[in-house]
Amino acid sequence: MSMDAIKMLQGKKILLGVSGSIAAYKAATLIRLLVKEGAEVKVVMTTAAAGFITPLTLATLSKNEVPLNISDHNSWNNHVMLGRWADVMLIAPASANTLAKMALGLCDNLLLAVYLSATCPVLFAPAMDEDMWHHPATRSNVDKLISFGHQQIPVESGELASGLFGEGRMAEPEQILTFLQQHFQQKNGRKALNGTTAIVTAGPTIEHIDPVRYISNHSSGKMGIAIAEALADAGANVQLVLGPTSQKTTHPGITVTHVQTAQEMFDAVTTRYPAAGIVVAAAAVADYRPANVADKKIKKGEAQLHIDLEKTPDILRSLGDNKGPQQLLVGFSLETNNEKEYALKKLRDKNLDLIVMNSLADTGAGFNYDTNKVTLFDKNGNERSFPLKSKQAVAQDIVSAIIELQHA
Ligand code: PMT
Repeated sequence: MSMDAIKMLQGKKILLGVSGSIAAYKAATLIRLLVKEGAEVKVVMTTAAAGFITPLTLATLSKNEVPLNISDHNSWNNHVMLGRWADVMLIAPASANTLAKMALGLCDNLLLAVYLSATCPVLFAPAMDEDMWHHPATRSNVDKLISFGHQQIPVESGELASGLFGEGRMAEPEQILTFLQQHFQQKNGRKALNGTTAIVTAGPTIEHIDPVRYISNHSSGKMGIAIAEALADAGANVQLVLGPTSQKTTHPGITVTHVQTAQEMFDAVTTRYPAAGIVVAAAAVADYRPANVADKKIKKGEAQLHIDLEKTPDILRSLGDNKGPQQLLVGFSLETNNEKEYALKKLRDKNLDLIVMNSLADTGAGFNYDTNKVTLFDKNGNERSFPLKSKQAVAQDIVSAIIELQHA
């Protein structure tokens, strides 16, 4: 954990509301992480949550009594004070039932009484099965809570308690911790990546055959531009090295360098690399280029034309080979098959900290779409899958993972 991150939660008063979901077991790890970061934690839980994890466990870890019922000793008077005591109220896990009651302003348990009394910012981490998560009632409850100014911590995709795979799993405690740190950083007017220079590569490259023809691919640059904007929103000074595309950004935190070929992208990135703390390589760089570029248009002749190709420089591999101890390197992996195997190989071979796997086998993912579906693998063996989202939302997930890794 970096010194900055330690300062972020040191002495902060976190009121954790735990509702009834199997994910309640993660509350124990979350409390341990928060206490380790110097936060003061008080817990309120519903009786349904107590069926999944005991109040004694959470009281022991938080070093504070855990009231359950509104009629418990002192709870009636204290619910207002608890709501006022906290710097932030975090409801994790937030079950479908608790979300619905919060949206309606119902107050039939202590957690809800505290929530309604809370004058501090409220964050919630939903946890439920995929069908419940997608139900229009849940969707509108979440929208309503966001309209109250509450922040939703994104759900994850993966194996659910039902045994099915899908969206709705509560974020991991480490991710919730990062979210909280970002919350306090923003509140202090300090952004998580202030003072960091980040290089992002985006778009395709083109490799000339002759003055009128070239080899290229379908990359639009949308994914890389979304990442550049998310990094700049987080305070980074972003150098965007952009291949030929009609996509643009006007973000004031981004300086754009336009390039065409893999060699030009390599040169632009390499000269900027020593000053960079973070590099995200989202560009679809051509792996091969014509060994010789004809200086005049090649005339139509024989039935077949053979063009000798040679390898382009592997930008990311070269950065990985020369990575400094404070530099964090993020690559992408785009495949049509054996996606995980190839992604993990690139993570290892190119000496990356994080790799973002996307597959052309997933509808709505990859080139040119406004959406993408990614799985993140980091150098510590963690794997995190996300559902299909807008490229802006994917970029947020990637930037959160980068900040998390910086603090690890
Ligand atoms: O631009 P969009 O239309 O929004 O589409 C987004 C995207 C599909 C291009 C993006 O999400 C993506 O997957 N980018 C990487 C595509 C790719 O070239 O993947 P790869 O598996 O072939 O390369 C692995 C990594 O090495 C990538 O980070 C790539 O940028 C990098 N590389 C590859 C070759 C090379 N010569 N130099 C490199 O730096």
